[in-house]
Amino acid sequence: PVTRTFDWTLSLATGAPDGVEREMMVVNGQFPGPLIEANQGDTIIVNVRNDMTTGAGIHWHGIAQKGTDWADGVPGVSQCPIPAGSTFTYKFTVANQFGTFWWHSHMGNTMADGLLGPLIIHSPDDPNVRGRDYDCERIIILGDWMHDMSDVIIADLLTVNGYHNSVAPPPPDALLINGVGVYNCSSVTDTSCTTQSLPEIDVVPNSSYRIRIINTMHYKFSIDSHPLKITAADDTAISGPKALHQLPIGIGQRYDTIIKTTVGTDGSAYYVRAAMCAASIANVPSNYDITALAVLRYVATGSKATTTLPSSTDWSDSHDPLIASNPPTTVVASTVMTSVFGFITNSALQSIAHFFWNSVTWTNYIYKPMLFTLKNGGSLNSSIITHAIFPSTGAADIIINNHDGGIDHPYHLHGNAFYLVSRGSGLLTAPEYAALNTSSFNTTNPLRRDTLVISRGSYAIIRIITDNPGVWPLHCHIGWHLAVGKLAAIVVQPAAIQDLSVPAAATALCDASNIPAGDTV
Ligand code: C2O
Repeated sequence: PVTRTFDWTLSLATGAPDGVEREMMVVNGQFPGPLIEANQGDTIIVNVRNDMTTGAGIHWHGIAQKGTDWADGVPGVSQCPIPAGSTFTYKFTVANQFGTFWWHSHMGNTMADGLLGPLIIHSPDDPNVRGRDYDCERIIILGDWMHDMSDVIIADLLTVNGYHNSVAPPPPDALLINGVGVYNCSSVTDTSCTTQSLPEIDVVPNSSYRIRIINTMHYKFSIDSHPLKITAADDTAISGPKALHQLPIGIGQRYDTIIKTTVGTDGSAYYVRAAMCAASIANVPSNYDITALAVLRYVATGSKATTTLPSSTDWSDSHDPLIASNPPTTVVASTVMTSVFGFITNSALQSIAHFFWNSVTWTNYIYKPMLFTLKNGGSLNSSIITHAIFPSTGAADIIINNHDGGIDHPYHLHGNAFYLVSRGSGLLTAPEYAALNTSSFNTTNPLRRDTLVISRGSYAIIRIITDNPGVWPLHCHIGWHLAVGKLAAIVVQPAAIQDLSVPAAATALCDASNIPAGDTV
C-alpha cells in the first residue's frame, strides 16, 4: 500500500455543460471533477484549496472512513465548512473496500453546481480484474443539471411559493452523460446557448469493457444492442444476471457491468441511453424530453448511431454477492426511521415545505458538527436531528419507511455498506417489526450496498454491524430533499467516538475566526 496525494483547487467558473452558460463550481477547472484512483489498502490524501466565495466540504461516497469520521466531509455532521480562501487536508485509508465509488460536495446541494467526480479502488480481491475478466475500463457518470445555482433554488424552495411556483423540488433543465447534455436552445432567449453534439464513448471491436456507471440522477440505463452483465452493485461484486438490457439506477448508486463489443463492425455506433425515471421526480412537464443520449462508437470510421430500443429486463436488488457474507441472524438493536414530505409554519406564519424523519426536519447548524458534540461527551438534540444510538458492537436493524405517496427515494447511509434483509409494501411500526417472523429475512448472502431506492409507500429493513464508531448520516440522495431537511443520524458507539483521534486542523475549522460574520450558528 502507498499514500496517494491529490491537490485540488475549488473555484467558481463559467461553464455550459448542456450548452447554456451559467456560473458553476469546479475542481481544478474540470467538470466532472478529477478521478481519484487507488488500490485497496492505500492511504488517500486530498489537499483541498477553497478559492470559491462560500464554505466547502467534500464527501467520499461509499468509503467507510473507519476511525476517520472527521474526513467524511459533511458540514454540520462531521466537520465545519472549509472557509473561502483557505486549505484543508482530507486523509483516509481504504482498508477493506474496492470497486466504484464517487466523491461530491456535501455542502447544501452544491454537488448540483458541479462538485462531483469518480473514485475508483482496484484490488486483487475483485472477482473481476482487467486482463482476465475484461480488456478495458470506461467510466460513465450520469447526472442532471439546472440553469440556476443551487443556493438560489434552495432559497426559493424555502419560501411559500417555492421554486418556479412549486414547493416540490424541480425537475432538471437537462440531463448529462459524462458532463455533457444537449439543451434545445430554441426554448431560451440566451444567445450564448449552443446545441451540443452527443458525448461519445470510444470502444474497439471484439473486446470486453468494464463500464463503471456512477449515477447522480434516477435513470434507466441501457446500451443499444449490448447486453449488460452486471458485476457489481455499489461496491459489492455480484454474480448477477448475464444479460440485462436495461438497468434502473438510483441517485448515488453505482453499477459495474461488462459489455462485449462484436467482431467486424468497425465504425458502428450505438446509443447509450439514460432515461429519467419519472417515478422519482415531482412535476415533470408532459413535454419533457427525459432520455439523455451518448454514442458508443466502435473506433475506426464514423457512422450514424442505430436506434434499436432495448428490450426491458430490469435489475432487482435480489442478486447474490460473489463474495459471500452472512449478517448475524440476531440483532442487538433496531430503530424505525420514517421519512415524509410536509410543512413547517415559520415565524411569519407561512407554511414552508420540508422533508422530515420521524417528524423532525434536519436543521443544519453547520458550525456545530454533531461529531464534535459527541466527541466532547455531549448528546444530540432530538428536536433538531432525528437520530438512533447504537451503543455497542453487534448487528442492528434500521427500518426505513418511505412515507411519501408521490415518489421513490434513494436512501444512502454513510460509514457502512448495509445488508438488505427484507422489504415490503406499506410502512412498518416498531411493534410490527418486533412481531415479524425474522426467519423470513434474507440472512444468506443478501445484497449489500450503500444506497437503496425505496418505492413510494414501502419499507426496507437494512442490517448493519455497529463496529465503526461515528455519526453516520442516513439521507435521501436527491440533493434538494437533503437540503430541505431529509437527513437523520445513526450514532454508533458514542463512548468510542470520544476516543477517535481528530487532527487539530479539523477541530480548527470550527474556530470562531473561521465563522463568517453573520453566520452565528
Ligand atoms: Cu453521496 Cu451523504 O452522500
